Amino acid sequence: MAASAPGKLILFGEHAVVFGEPALCTAINLRAEVFVRPYKEWRADGGSIDEPRYRYVKRAVEKAKAREPMWIEVRSMVPSGAGLGSSAAVTVATLGALHGIAGALDAPTIAREAFEVEHEVQGRASPLDTSTATAGGALLVLREPREDLLWTIERDTRRWCLHRARLPDLEFVIGNTGISAATGPLVAKVKDRVERDPHAAEKVREIGRITLDGLAALRRRDLVEAGRLMDRDHALLTDLGVGHPMLDRLVAAARPSSYGAKLTGAGGGGSIVALTDRPEETAETIRAAGGKAFVVRPDSVGVTKQP
Ligand code: PMV
Repeated sequence: MAASAPGKLILFGEHAVVFGEPALCTAINLRAEVFVRPYKEWRADGGSIDEPRYRYVKRAVEKAKAREPMWIEVRSMVPSGAGLGSSAAVTVATLGALHGIAGALDAPTIAREAFEVEHEVQGRASPLDTSTATAGGALLVLREPREDLLWTIERDTRRWCLHRARLPDLEFVIGNTGISAATGPLVAKVKDRVERDPHAAEKVREIGRITLDGLAALRRRDLVEAGRLMDRDHALLTDLGVGHPMLDRLVAAARPSSYGAKLTGAGGGGSIVALTDRPEETAETIRAAGGKAFVVRPDSVGVTKQP
């Protein structure tokens, strides 16, 4: 049995989503695949499942309550530490393969279990990555349920209502700085600023408005407006303290051949995303500026069984 799940890209709303503002995320056509086969003991890629790099896989195995031991193989196209949801894709694909043995996949169950796995392994998490890896396509996170609700996830005092969003076919270029930055301290930094400074709180609310305006612009294929909003979002995120000189460098390199570009994910390093209809040219300028670049497209397919 095998299953695959996609990586993700946050288009608008990172950090502001922590304060209950909306966020827009899309699955991308970089996928993780996980194969499982009964074996006399648990193995991950031939070695021990207790190795730290298999902590998401191991937690997923515990969640799925597998009855017999398995030999697990993990293959992932999603670069890790780039803010592209690699751990979520591997977690969701592992749950998909293990549940797939017993029958059909139940997306809301997998989304919830995968969120719990990330939460337990990382100490904190939003369900954005895991729900996108499960559902595929584009997702809009809102505080309140509305039309097109997929599922709601709650933990402690927080609630996320995950909705299906529809985007036209688009191309994005990712520029990875190669600098990895932990999400937790960056989220804490923004929280501290927002609590101390009303201007920072206003910036968070503006990001929320940008997310909804950005979704509307993308849906009517107004890429000029969507790009302008991405540029503004990048400036606001930088003001909130989650920028990095290398992110600014890659954004500046991407912009001449793009509609817009911004950091994506937690920031402090990680990646940028550029909206462009000249992807090869944008990728080339990002590489010339010292980043790793790849062209991605939204992927409408979420977790899938591959017998
Ligand atoms: O780098 P990522 O994909 O884990 O981005 C995290 C997104 C944040 O909004 C910064 C944090 C969160 O929990 O939503």
